[in-house]
Amino acid sequence: MHLVSLVCLATLVGFSREASPPSQLYDPLVAQKLLTSAQSVPNNPIQYPQYTSRDNGQWQYFPADYWTTGFLPAACYALYTRFNSLCPNSTAANQFLELGRGLSTGEVPLEAHTTVGHDVGFLSFPFVDEVAIDKSNQTAVTAVNTFATLLADRFNAIVGCTRSWDTSDPTDFQVIIDNMMNLQVLFDSEALTGNTTLRDIAMSHADKTMQNHVRPDGSSYHVVEYNSTTGDVIRRRTAQGYADNSTWTRGQAWGVYGFANMYRNTQQTRYLDTARQMASYYISQVPSDGIVPWDFNAPLDPPRPADSSAAMIATVGLLMLSQQEASLSPSNTSGAQYWSDAAIKLLSDNTAFAWKPEWQSLLSNGTVNNPASPPNNLTGIIYGDHYFIEAGNQLISMGLANCSNSSSTSPAPSSPPTTQHTSGASRTHRLWW
Ligand SMILES: *[C@@H]1O[C@H](CO)[C@@H](O)[C@H](O)[C@H]1NC(C)=O
Ligand SMILES: *[C@@H]1O[C@H](CO)[C@@H](O)[C@H](O)[C@H]1NC(C)=O
Ligand SMILES: *[C@@H]1O[C@H](CO)[C@@H](O)[C@H](O)[C@H]1NC(C)=O
Ligand SMILES: *[C@@H]1O[C@H](CO)[C@@H](O)[C@H](O)[C@H]1NC(C)=O
Ligand SMILES: *[C@@H]1O[C@H](CO)[C@@H](O)[C@H](O)[C@H]1NC(C)=O
Ligand SMILES: *[C@@H]1O[C@H](CO)[C@@H](O)[C@H](O)[C@H]1NC(C)=O
Ligand SMILES: *[C@@H]1O[C@H](CO)[C@@H](O)[C@H](O)[C@H]1NC(C)=O
Ligand SMILES: *[C@@H]1O[C@H](CO)[C@@H](O)[C@H](O)[C@H]1NC(C)=O
Ligand SMILES: *[C@@H]1O[C@H](CO)[C@@H](O)[C@H](O)[C@H]1NC(C)=O
Ligand SMILES: *[C@@H]1O[C@H](CO)[C@@H](O)[C@H](O)[C@H]1NC(C)=O
Repeated sequence: MHLVSLVCLATLVGFSREASPPSQLYDPLVAQKLLTSAQSVPNNPIQYPQYTSRDNGQWQYFPADYWTTGFLPAACYALYTRFNSLCPNSTAANQFLELGRGLSTGEVPLEAHTTVGHDVGFLSFPFVDEVAIDKSNQTAVTAVNTFATLLADRFNAIVGCTRSWDTSDPTDFQVIIDNMMNLQVLFDSEALTGNTTLRDIAMSHADKTMQNHVRPDGSSYHVVEYNSTTGDVIRRRTAQGYADNSTWTRGQAWGVYGFANMYRNTQQTRYLDTARQMASYYISQVPSDGIVPWDFNAPLDPPRPADSSAAMIATVGLLMLSQQEASLSPSNTSGAQYWSDAAIKLLSDNTAFAWKPEWQSLLSNGTVNNPASPPNNLTGIIYGDHYFIEAGNQLISMGLANCSNSSSTSPAPSSPPTTQHTSGASRTHRLWW
């Protein structure tokens, strides 16, 4: 019965099961470029790459107090994980661990003062990675707990959410779908301190987001504004999408990942259902050429820019969802394979045009912010590269790819994801962030 409904679903959304992981995933250029990027950040004071010039692919650097700062060090930790345990090479592993640690130091001052608001969750990634390797590293433990406290301090019990952006009128309480990604730091800090209030805050925020950001068809609003004194929704709008009622692709991807991650942390079925619904919508909206546009509802004329970063984030979200299906008891093997097939197709289709050997970034064709003046599109983006690396790690850990640099690496339909990857709790290194 499940098989039948899955076959129908697959027919509906029209993707084939023949896609294999892109050959570029484990190309030596990945480690080479990351190494160069990590060794070239400006120092005194340290600055971090966010996106590239659209003309020559050179990284543009920004001060540490910005939401994307953690991605380069986190990508170094991801390559540490890859070379430490997935594709063993101790020289490379040590090199990337050292780089991840070194690059994190510029983020430590942000615990005392940051203007990133809710994005402290993103800033916490490299410290969470460090704690997974060395629990006795007090600098990293303190960073995780402090970032979690900063996010918890932004919780308003009347609204039921953590505040995303600060506003001049404090009663105008703005929450963006991206905020789902920052909830993970609350679970990470709970694991270190035993403070369950942090989990309660994460669940309240996710419940409200489910109610007010996600539309009945599984699509999503970017921004929901609440009145902080009454808790009422006063506005639903976009900031980075095409229109207030459109679906900004990267926001939808954050939602797929965010709700799959809520299920991973809580085992509450409502989050699994929401992740499935948002993932189905995402897949159903990808055009037949496979290229993810920056907003699913943006008109075709003038030609709408792609957002390869949204495709990479959604890929990892779908792989997480696949692992959650596999972890059900009894294991939902057909559901797991459905999502991992979709993830591999999304990854392949979008790597095919965005892979950019001659640029400093791994990928091109990212859209940072198209409604900005001037629009910022057709760039490399550090988080696109980060989730590309993460996708490569996940596919190996799920047995769907191996470390050899070959386009003939094919998923093994006979061995779908197993329950061995259901929780990060027993690992000596971290595989999700
Ligand atoms: C890896 O793949 C790239 C093309 O994607 C190719 O240029 C390179 O020679 C390959 N390297 C190895 C070691 O197979
Ligand atoms: C291991 O990594 C080092 C450093 O990145 C590299 O020079 C070397 O070629 C790698 N060894 C193998 C067998 O891939
Ligand atoms: C401890 O963690 C910090 C921050 O993650 C890092 O910069 C530092 O190098 C680590 N220290 C050691 C001794 O590993
Ligand atoms: C748990 O975390 C919340 C939110 O940061 C804080 O208000 C509370 O004091 C903490 N409880 C303990 C026992 O530390
Ligand atoms: C929120 O509601 C209060 C009380 O009704 C009102 O004074 C305030 O202007 C409202 N704020 C916004 C942003 O609507
Ligand atoms: C958004 O609203 C406008 C105006 O009400 C409408 O024309 C358009 O079809 C709507 N778009 C979507 C994606 O619902
Ligand atoms: C298995 O996963 C698919 C896709 O998410 C879902 O439609 C189906 O209901 C799941 N089956 C079970 C038994 O949970
Ligand atoms: C990708 O970006 C390049 C410019 O860097 C552009 O020429 C090309 O059309 C873009 N491809 C897609 C599929 O959007
Ligand atoms: C992409 O960005 C360029 C440069 O800012 C801008 O001229 C162009 O209008 C943007 N493309 C679209 C379709 O918005
Ligand atoms: C790894 O990939 C290569 C190239 O596709 C293949 O020949 C080999 O059998 C694969 N190894 C495993 C363990 O799957």
